[in-house]
Amino acid sequence: MPQGVIIREGSTDILVPELHSSGGPGKIQGGVFFNEQMAFNRDISVMLLRAVGRDLTVADAMTATGSRAVRIANEVKGTEVVANDISPDAIPYIEENIRINSLENCRASNRNLHNLFTDEAFDYVDLDPFGSPAPFVQSAIRGCRKNGILAVTATDTAPLAGAHAPKCRRRYQSEPVRGYMCHEGGLRILMCFVARELAKFDRGMKPLLSFYADHYLRTYIQIEEGAEKADRMLDQLGYMQYDMDTMERSLSQHYDPQHKLGPFWLGPLHDQEFIGRMDASGMATEKRCNKYLDLWRNEIDTEVFVYDMSELSSHIKMSPPKIADFIEVLRTNGKAALTHMSPTSFKTDLPLDQIVSLYKEASPDNRA
Ligand SMILES: C[S@@+](CC[C@H](N)C(=O)[O-])C[C@H]1O[C@@H](n2cnc3c(N)ncnc32)[C@H](O)[C@@H]1O
Repeated sequence: MPQGVIIREGSTDILVPELHSSGGPGKIQGGVFFNEQMAFNRDISVMLLRAVGRDLTVADAMTATGSRAVRIANEVKGTEVVANDISPDAIPYIEENIRINSLENCRASNRNLHNLFTDEAFDYVDLDPFGSPAPFVQSAIRGCRKNGILAVTATDTAPLAGAHAPKCRRRYQSEPVRGYMCHEGGLRILMCFVARELAKFDRGMKPLLSFYADHYLRTYIQIEEGAEKADRMLDQLGYMQYDMDTMERSLSQHYDPQHKLGPFWLGPLHDQEFIGRMDASGMATEKRCNKYLDLWRNEIDTEVFVYDMSELSSHIKMSPPKIADFIEVLRTNGKAALTHMSPTSFKTDLPLDQIVSLYKEASPDNRA
């Protein structure tokens, strides 16, 4: 039996190496990777697959201890799960986790995912690599059955968010945006990358849920079949112009000398009807899941790219009003809502000059 400790996550017992990560991107400490902080990420998978509401074959392609795979097999009815990892050290953990949860709908697999997805396809494929998923996305797409769901995590947030632009260009062939929009930019670059890979197979996509949390970016996409769906998907890619000195930004479907950031996915991040069905009851991080569900459900997903209170205050040079109060002010003139990207960011359909004048009126300095 492999060495370790048994923890409980959701309603599943998981044997993990005694030495494991509990935050940040994490690193292998006890031979096989496990990061406690990713319980939230695994909770989201369980809630999302429950919301699909039909029988599913599942491949957790990079499962390490098998934590996500066994949680899905144990907590989502009607699933048949393959818990796969290339590392032979992972297999005893996966097998033990299947055994301690008495799972008959989960099997361990010790393959390079590129080979697994040459031979088999699934209704749901999960990619959760160290760093960039870019080298794995094409194989994962092959491994998705017709109208399957693909879930992708990226922990290479620094390149995607512009702190290491050359690496972003190499991995994703996109120019990242820096500043307050950097995490939304990174998420939209990741989604654009997935879209362009799908297009090669005449497949399109509809995002179900996409987010930034802790140190990573994550997208769940519903694959749509056919050349027409692929073309409609490509229509939703585009470029951005952003002037850090004036806060001016604009989008364009095509590259030009002004619009040279991107390409980004410019369509919605979520399917509101779908996430409306997700339920956090019994999740390991139930309170946090409910907080994020609330934010995602209320985000203005028709607007691309956030504004940030710190961005406004440093440009306008007046103290910021409380964000909740400012959103109320914006709402008397148009749409406005918080976003999950940061507690100080919001989206609105108002033009920049109106945002600035409303900010000036609402600033506590103005009332002094
Ligand atoms: C970040 S860990 C996965 C963590 C896991 N999903 C969890 O929630 O605990 C990445 C895993 O991918 C595995 N891996 C790396 N390259 C792979 C490949 N080509 N095929 C299958 N697994 C691979 C590694 O052995 C490692 O266990």
